[in-house]
Amino acid sequence: MSTVPKPTPTPAADPLDSLFRPVAVEFFAGIGLARMGLEEAGFRIDWANDIERSKAEMYRAQFGEPSDLDKATDPDRSPGYFLGDVTKVKAKHMPENVRLAWASSPCVDVSLAGARLGMKGERSSMFYQFTRVIGEMGEYKGRPDVIVLENVVGLATSHGGEDLAAAIDTMNGLGYSVDVLTLDARSFVPQSRPRLFLVGVREDKVPASQPGANPVLRPDWLRATLTRLAGRGLEIHQARLPDLPDVSVGELSTIVDDRADEWWDAERSVKFLNSLSPMQAKRLGELQEKSRDAPLYRTAYRRTRDKTPMWEIRADDIAGCLRTARGGSSKQALVRIHGNDVRVRWMTSVEYARLMGADDYNLKDVKRAGQALFGFGDAVCVPVVAWLAKNYLKPVIDGTFQPGGDSEEPDVDVEESSTMRPLAEIHG
Ligand SMILES: C[S@@+](CC[C@H](N)C(=O)[O-])C[C@H]1O[C@@H](n2cnc3c(N)ncnc32)[C@H](O)[C@@H]1O
Repeated sequence: MSTVPKPTPTPAADPLDSLFRPVAVEFFAGIGLARMGLEEAGFRIDWANDIERSKAEMYRAQFGEPSDLDKATDPDRSPGYFLGDVTKVKAKHMPENVRLAWASSPCVDVSLAGARLGMKGERSSMFYQFTRVIGEMGEYKGRPDVIVLENVVGLATSHGGEDLAAAIDTMNGLGYSVDVLTLDARSFVPQSRPRLFLVGVREDKVPASQPGANPVLRPDWLRATLTRLAGRGLEIHQARLPDLPDVSVGELSTIVDDRADEWWDAERSVKFLNSLSPMQAKRLGELQEKSRDAPLYRTAYRRTRDKTPMWEIRADDIAGCLRTARGGSSKQALVRIHGNDVRVRWMTSVEYARLMGADDYNLKDVKRAGQALFGFGDAVCVPVVAWLAKNYLKPVIDGTFQPGGDSEEPDVDVEESSTMRPLAEIHG
């Protein structure tokens, strides 16, 4: 049985409650895990977009919309969900009163810095399609209070920090001061999944900045990058947030799908064991010793060395970062070790859902296991989004943000006012 935090899918039972929730829109929505986290924090998602039909099918099974995927391919005919290319999205497709715009844009495969310099329509990076729509909203129906970009942590260091600078600069250009944070799903679920979050807050809502706050969210490597960018006139802030929950340890057993019994047969298991390097075999031997009384679980990856597939068992009691199952090597196997009894099988979609904090995700209508693994591998971890939304995004939007969390009075000396500050001042 799983003990990881349960998401609460919350189309509010009371329609009046739903009416008063701040409206959010979700770009690059995938299977909707950002939506689950945002709903848990009290947002209402009135619009979403993704280009992948297989993900839109899962999204529909989970949230009951869009009701007709064929209609959803025309942004003018499907007001709540658009299945298609973000380049076709215009400000007129956005709902009224958008307070938050969330973008889990595809990982940086093009240089943001380069894309910005030569940006032209479809050739530009997906991130700039998101910011284009936000810019158009400013002219048309008002900008959201907060915009968020979620991406891989590599965005912070790629091209010597230039990609990060380009992203911050673009958000600044739209009138948002930016707070750069990293959060690892590991604080909530037994999966290592560090991600970068750029929280852009409209200039009239920027919380007081406390340089040096929350070193777990802004570790040394991230500060070092920001320090290198000081002097570039970028507007950033560092809001003081509550501490994250203690890192979850020893919890892999909590996500195991007890009903899954597709353990590999003897021949395949022997192949697995024979592929282990001496160091890996020693690790397995130690785990066997430790598990004489009760079974232990570990995840394993297949790697190819000199054209020979080899398995590696993770030392710690968590899964590695789930990835889209585009190639065999991205899939993870589950190893159950109970003394001499060692069993191996692929992880199931139920286990993937639990590792993403989406225990209650509707998997009944998923046609192929591969579809679910593909969807979850690309997604954002639900409790991470919920934590950020409850502790930062929603309080800023509601005007109730208190440095450090939910205390009535700020419990730190905040010297700075709530105005945007050049990065040079913070790191200078
Ligand atoms: C990192 S994933 C985001 C996943 C999402 N946060 C979730 O929870 O499932 C990026 C998404 O961008 C989508 N995408 C890629 N190119 C796109 C485009 N041109 N227009 C719209 N969506 C696109 C992909 O299909 C993918 O689902």
